[in-house]
Amino acid sequence: MGLKPTRIEVDELVLRPLVAGDEAAVATAMADPDILRWTAGSAVLRVPADRRAVKWLESRIDGWSRNNAVFAVADAATDVLLGSVTLRDVNRVPDQAVVAYWVSPAARGRRLAARALDAAARWAFTSPGDGGLGLHRLSLDHALVNEGSCRVAIRAGFLLEGTMRDYYVEADGRRHDSHLHARLAPDPRPAERL
Ligand SMILES: CC(C)(COP(=O)(O)OP(=O)(O)OC[C@H]1O[C@@H](n2cnc3c(N)ncnc32)[C@H](O)[C@@H]1OP(=O)(O)O)[C@@H](O)C(=O)NCCC(=O)NCCS
Repeated sequence: MGLKPTRIEVDELVLRPLVAGDEAAVATAMADPDILRWTAGSAVLRVPADRRAVKWLESRIDGWSRNNAVFAVADAATDVLLGSVTLRDVNRVPDQAVVAYWVSPAARGRRLAARALDAAARWAFTSPGDGGLGLHRLSLDHALVNEGSCRVAIRAGFLLEGTMRDYYVEADGRRHDSHLHARLAPDPRPAERL
């Protein structure tokens, strides 16, 4: 079945499907140690550094056909990619999806992840008749030591549900306790200006 590729505008940002032309911006992001550590994924880490952007993009440009809503978060004026928000495994568990995000180092400090995550969540909770996914629950996890990610989750309205012991495993085998956060469709929206 798959998902319909979608475009969402919020503030000075646009959430849009990834394109091959995002490769240079993704390559900059894939050189960041924190993105590699927390969110790039083992398939990307396994390839040489100069192939990581292509590897990251190849499964995500057409991720929509496999029920993954993979958004570039771009500057609406220039269309340059600044970050990414993904809602993966949409409806693998009925009415649910799992969220992930990153922001390129040069674009950090503007609460971009929280604002993009909130916009993607509101779209995901919107009924299909109105162009959304009609989901009920979105969840995410982050290693406890990744405090910035915890701030993003809370600010975007994803409540802390608990701690999963030794949940996240780094490429070198280090294990980290992780927070589980989730936002439900009926939860109150976070503050209007994030
Ligand atoms: C997490 C990430 C997406 C946040 O990017 P961003 O939207 O630009 O975030 P900001 O710099 O605006 O900071 C957001 C909040 O986190 C806080 N924060 C950022 N870095 C932090 C750190 N190292 N320790 C503690 N708090 C931190 C900020 O103070 C801010 O808090 P506030 O909203 O209460 O004011 C970005 O750092 C990133 O891409 N990290 C690597 C990938 C990653 O960890 N992804 C999540 C995987 S679970």
